[in-house]
Amino acid sequence: MLDRANDSGLPSPLVGRTSELTVLTSHAEAAYAGRSGLVVLSGPTGIGKTSLLRAFLDSDTCRKMTVLHGTCGQLVAGSGYGGVRALFGPLGLTADDAHDSPLLQGNARRALPALAPHPGDEEPPSPATAYPVLHGLYWLAVNLMTQGPLVLVLDDVHWCDERSLRWIDFLLRRADHLPLLVVLAQRTEAEPVAPAALADIVAQPRSSAIRLGPLADADVAELAREIFPLPVAPSFAERVAAVGGGNPLTVTRLLHELRAKGARPDDTGIHAIAEVGQCVVAQSVHALFERQPGWVRDVATAIAVLGGAADAAAHIGGLAAVTAARIEEAVTLLRGAEVVAPDRPDLAHDVVRSAVLDAAGADALAGLRARAAQLLSDIGRPAEEVANQVLLVPGHPQPWMRWVLREAAAQATNRGAPEAAARYLRRVLEAEPDSVSAHVQLAGALAETHPVEAIGLLKGALDLTAEVRAKAPI
Ligand SMILES: Nc1ncnc2c1ncn2[C@@H]1O[C@H](COP(=O)(O)OP(=O)(O)O)[C@@H](O)[C@H]1O
Ligand SMILES: [Mg+2]
Repeated sequence: MLDRANDSGLPSPLVGRTSELTVLTSHAEAAYAGRSGLVVLSGPTGIGKTSLLRAFLDSDTCRKMTVLHGTCGQLVAGSGYGGVRALFGPLGLTADDAHDSPLLQGNARRALPALAPHPGDEEPPSPATAYPVLHGLYWLAVNLMTQGPLVLVLDDVHWCDERSLRWIDFLLRRADHLPLLVVLAQRTEAEPVAPAALADIVAQPRSSAIRLGPLADADVAELAREIFPLPVAPSFAERVAAVGGGNPLTVTRLLHELRAKGARPDDTGIHAIAEVGQCVVAQSVHALFERQPGWVRDVATAIAVLGGAADAAAHIGGLAAVTAARIEEAVTLLRGAEVVAPDRPDLAHDVVRSAVLDAAGADALAGLRARAAQLLSDIGRPAEEVANQVLLVPGHPQPWMRWVLREAAAQATNRGAPEAAARYLRRVLEAEPDSVSAHVQLAGALAETHPVEAIGLLKGALDLTAEVRAKAPI
C-alpha cells in the first residue's frame, strides 16, 4: 500500500505506514483541541522512524500548529541541554536582537543558559540553577503556546542528554490542559545516554507507544516496482523482504545493489539476493569506494568523522586534504549513491557512517579523529563540541585535549549539567590517575548523582596529597 499522503520531498514515497501516520495525526488533533499528549516512536535502525516523522511533520495537522523539530546526534550525545538546543535553536533566541522577543518575556528568560551555544559568556549561572532553567524552559514553551498549539518532535532520543529529557518530563507533568504534543523517536537496540530519564518519560500515564515493525511483503513489492522498471514477481519481493528483514533501509539498499548487478526482479533474480546477503549497506559502500578514485573515499570519511558538525561542509577540505572542486564533485557523486544525505552535509544514515568508518581502518581513523578535534578547536568551536570529538579519539588524550575536556566540563557545569561534566572529567582522570585536581573536579561533578563514588574520589585525592596544608581544602 503506497501512502502518497505527503509531498515531503523524500527520495522515495513512504510505503505501508498509513496506520502509524493516522495515530500520530490523531494525537496532534487532540493537542490542537487542548489535550496534551506524548508519543514514543521506537524501532530498530533503518525501520523508518525518521521518515515517518517527516511525513507527520508534513501533514495538514502539523501545518496548522507551531512545530519544533530537532535531532539528537551521536557526536553531541550527552552534551548538557543538547536536546533542548536541537529543538529551540532554530528560534534564534540567543541572538543579540532577540532580547525583546515576546517568547522570552517573564520567567522564560531564565531558559537562556540552556539555549546559549557558548554558555557562561554573559550571565554565568551557578551550578544550583538547574530548577530555574527547567522553569524558564517551561515558560518558554508556555509563551510559544500562547501563539498556538505546539508540537515538539525530537528524533534519536537515545542520544539525548539527561537534562533535556528531565525537562521534557517536567513539561509533560505540568501540561494537562496545554495544547501540546511531544513526539520522541528512539532506536530500540541503542543503549540510551540517559536511560533513567528516558524511562521516566515513557512511564508517564499519558505516554503512548508506536513500535515500527517490518514492512509487509506487498510494501516491499511496491518499493521493488519503484526501483526496477520491470514487473516484479511476488516470489522475488518475498525473498527480498525476508533477507532484508522487512527493514526499509536494508531492503532499499538490497534492491539498488541487485539492480546494479544486473539482476531481474523475477525467479532468476532470487539467486542474486542470496549472494548479496545481509551486509548490503556495508557492501554497497565498499563497492562504491572501489569503483571511485581515492579522494571520493577521503571526502566520505571526512564527512563521517565530522558527523554533521556545524559548518561541516566548510571543513571537509581541512580534514580530507582534497581541493574544493573535487570535494564538490565527490559530494555530488556520494549524494547520487545515497551515501551523503540529500539535504545536509552529512552521511545519509548511521549505518552508512559505520560502513564508511570501517572502510577507513582503525589507525587512519584515530588520526583523523584527532585532526578533526584539532580543527574544531583551531576554528574556535565551543569546548563541548571539541570535547565530544576528543572523546572519540582512542587512547589517552594529549595534554591540549585534556585542557579542552576540563574546559568543556566547566561549561557543562555552568549549564547545570553535571552528568555531561562527569563524562569529560572521567577521560581526564583516566589519563592523569595521580592528578589531585582531576579527582576533586570529578568528585564535584558526581556529588549530586553518585555521592558514594564522589566520596571515594575525594579519599583518593587525600591519599595522593602528602602535605597537610594541601589536604585541608579537599
Ligand atoms: N515506509 C517507507 N517507505 C519507503 N522508504 C522508507 C520507508 N521508511 C524508511 N524508508 C527509507 O529507509 C531509509 C531509512 O529510514 P529512516 O527513516 O532513516 O530510518 P530510522 O530513522 O528508523 O533509522 C531511508 O532511506 C528511507 O527513505
Ligand atoms: Mg532516524
